[in-house]
Amino acid sequence: MEKFEKKQQLYEGKAKKVFATENPDYVIVSYKDDATAFNGQKKGTIVGKGVINNKMSNMLMAMLEKKGVPTHFVEQLSDRETVVKKVQIVPLEVIIRNVAAGSFSKRYGVKEGTKLSIPTIEFSYKCDELDDPLINDYHALALNLATEQEIARIKELAFKVNDLLIEFFKHLNIDLIDFKLEFGRFHGEVILADEISPDTCRFWEAGSWDTEKHVSLDKDRFRRDLGGVEDAYNEVFKRLTEGE
Ligand code: TMP
Ligand code: ASP
Repeated sequence: MEKFEKKQQLYEGKAKKVFATENPDYVIVSYKDDATAFNGQKKGTIVGKGVINNKMSNMLMAMLEKKGVPTHFVEQLSDRETVVKKVQIVPLEVIIRNVAAGSFSKRYGVKEGTKLSIPTIEFSYKCDELDDPLINDYHALALNLATEQEIARIKELAFKVNDLLIEFFKHLNIDLIDFKLEFGRFHGEVILADEISPDTCRFWEAGSWDTEKHVSLDKDRFRRDLGGVEDAYNEVFKRLTEGE
């Protein structure tokens, strides 16, 4: 097995740092406990989040890979560090929704917890200066953010991930309300990148989405000052690892 040595830092994002390795095809990501919301306007710490997000994301990516979704996951090195394929990120945040919540509820005036007739997909243009604006396929093509083939593949993979994650979390008594994915290019192929964690998904206690008072087990507890943030991350992680 190849030994991965951490070299210089390439990038620091809001929740992760990225380091080079000796192999130009691989980088090491290191997950932080830093939490932000509303494009960095709200800042805080969620103690232990980095460890949970690292391990959870790796478990989910490994599961998805087994079911035929190509991902960037290579090898977990430690509690917070993982070797991943070095991709060129497609600058689109890919959001899948099963139940109305968050910005969808606000934008379209739909009560949070309303089940959608079909799962939906939307793209945001990954650009902090512009606050990640909503963008459609034509705009993405016109701005050369991705090719038609890449967009088609991203949609296909994102809906497949949705089917697999819904089923996976159902067994943990969690309803997958919505989530955000990012994809990258690796040797000409589009693969799943970034992370899948309570930072990037809405997880509601099973069955609670059709009541006024749903129980969030995700970063909404931080975004909305609901309290019990760490407990929520720990609870999802506990259910995930108990099921192993
Ligand atoms: P939204 O309802 O605020 O648009 O969020 C939709 C989903 O995307 C939700 O599961 C949280 C996730 N998300 C991110 O991962 N990063 C972000 O920057 C935002 C705004 C949302
Ligand atoms: N991406 C957001 C931020 O930049 C965080 C979020 O709402 O998930 O702060």
